[in-house]
Amino acid sequence: MSYKFANVKTELPGPKAKELLERRKQYVPKGVSNGIPTFVEKAQGAILTDVDGNTFIDFAGAIGTINAGHCAPEVVEALHDQVDKYIHTGFNVMMYEPYIELAERLAKLAPGDHEKQVLFLNSGAEAVENAVKIARKYTKRQGVVVFSRGFHGRTLLTMTMTSKVKPYKFEFGPFAPEVYKAPYHYEYRRPEGMSAEQYDQYILNEFKTFLQGDVAPENVAAVVMEPVQGEGGFVVPSKTFVQGVAEICKQHGIVFVADEIQTGFSRTGKLFAIEHFDVVPDLMTVSKSMGAGLPISGVIGRKEIMEAANPGELGGTYAGSPLGCRAALAVLDMIEKHDLNEKGRIIGEKVMDRFNRLADKYDIIGDVRGLGAMCAIEFVKDRQTKEPNKEIVGTIVNEANKRGLITLSAGLFGNVLRVLMPLVITDEQLEEGLDIIEEAMEAATSALQVH
Ligand SMILES: Cc1ncc(COP(=O)(O)O)c(C=O)c1O
Repeated sequence: MSYKFANVKTELPGPKAKELLERRKQYVPKGVSNGIPTFVEKAQGAILTDVDGNTFIDFAGAIGTINAGHCAPEVVEALHDQVDKYIHTGFNVMMYEPYIELAERLAKLAPGDHEKQVLFLNSGAEAVENAVKIARKYTKRQGVVVFSRGFHGRTLLTMTMTSKVKPYKFEFGPFAPEVYKAPYHYEYRRPEGMSAEQYDQYILNEFKTFLQGDVAPENVAAVVMEPVQGEGGFVVPSKTFVQGVAEICKQHGIVFVADEIQTGFSRTGKLFAIEHFDVVPDLMTVSKSMGAGLPISGVIGRKEIMEAANPGELGGTYAGSPLGCRAALAVLDMIEKHDLNEKGRIIGEKVMDRFNRLADKYDIIGDVRGLGAMCAIEFVKDRQTKEPNKEIVGTIVNEANKRGLITLSAGLFGNVLRVLMPLVITDEQLEEGLDIIEEAMEAATSALQVH
């Protein structure tokens, strides 16, 4: 089958990629994983070209980092301009305007009309760590509550807060103390015989019981929640659940933190996913698509909470670098100019429509779910038992790669296929990518003899 945008002319890896792969094996530890076995030469919009001249449609977007597209002209222009002026002075040595401008814009854009402040860092994990530090300082409490299947990073604290044992935590203990894990709403795996309303009540009661049985609310500094779970399998919780947890936090003076690192910047059809739930978080962690590929992250929050830390207690050498700030400002401009929120919504509709049609065809599809353009398929061995089917997802991803589409798995059991394409993808590219998923499914199901 030949395509217009996807064009894989060589085996994967191709000859040049093979050479690089050998050097990678020699000099880079295997602990850093990689998906497709090739190396990029050029990236533009939603298209990646590898070192052997193969082209791929990108449905992974560097794991949700490239909502504004690869090398978006606005971002490239801002970076060139910044490089010519100054690259790095260290905000804690000599400050610079882009940091202030970005803080001001994000404070105004984040949900809630209260006064807000913004702190910038480098990575998602660092943002989560700092949100916890700030919440602890403010509340003078130590406990941190997270949720089953959550992902918050790979540093000691955030690895502790993360759920999946293998590969994220296995043999990396001892873990950070005072981290507690509560159950998260999971509609697809709602106990049989329970209505959606009963399940909402059940899971909120479980949360209350957890605050009785696992940690006292007056010892909890922060509850950190992904509004839609990313690595955990694109699990979209109910509004009642998110609102209920936020309300319980309010009652007990617990800082409610929305981890928007994967969900933010138009992915779900709104600037931030938490807006779908009509909840105003006390703090929000942001990163990934904020910088369009530049390493920048942030904590946005209520001024009185953000002000709890004293000078020198927050920050870092490269935290909120000028280049990161300029890239993020360009992304915010692009979101407005190209209405990326609306694009996220429309892409989501198209993807869900195609995924639902696939679900009509294949019994191994247990669930199709999503919020905006954060869409996924959960695969099972049997629709009755809902036993996770990881093997099929790995095979689909490989078959898609061979045909020139990059996509990702997710979920505690690796049995979820997820898409995080740049929101600037054209209709034609999107349709071609979805056609490839369909063909990859056909190939994978016949290779594994499942339906
Ligand atoms: C919700 C969430 N929080 C935190 C992180 C950690 O971000 P980083 O890998 O930049 O440390 C991620 C990364 O995937 C994420 O999805």
